Amino acid sequence: MAVERTLSIIKPDAVAKNVIGQIYARFEAAGLKIVAARMTHLSRLEAENFYAVHRQRPFFNDLVEFMISGPVMIQVLEGENAIAKNRELMGATDPQKADKGTIRADFAESIDANAVHGSDAPETAAVEIACFFPSLNIYSR
Ligand code: PPS
Repeated sequence: MAVERTLSIIKPDAVAKNVIGQIYARFEAAGLKIVAARMTHLSRLEAENFYAVHRQRPFFNDLVEFMISGPVMIQVLEGENAIAKNRELMGATDPQKADKGTIRADFAESIDANAVHGSDAPETAAVEIACFFPSLNIYSR
């Protein structure tokens, strides 16, 4: 299985709930390494650019408003099959539909405030990681 990297964001709702450590513990227990991390408060422009692919969707403005409503914790996760593994840990986009024991089932309130983001494919992971981390700030091994 390939060693991959994926971009993970702990969203403002989960940062406000003080569960960064609990979410990190789940990444580590699943064999994912945190190889870069930083806390930041996204600007409107950063959030709009990050979610540009969703610009035409009806929830775009709500999503951007939510993502700039407080600080976020952004990390690069590395490990075998990291992209799919992280999305499995996250659970479905709508926490009401997320499997028991997933991050969204345990920590998210609604589809708007759903605790975490994770890249969905190798191509998007590469683009999303480059949005926040120059390669020399990723510490692998
Ligand atoms: S996903 O995770 O990309 O497969 O899911 P998708 O349904 O395509 O949603 C894309 C992102 O938009 C968020 N989203 C919403 N935000 C606010 N309101 C509503 N109704 C809504 N529906 C979806 C969803 O959480 C995804 O954000 P990220 O950060 O990628 O998880």
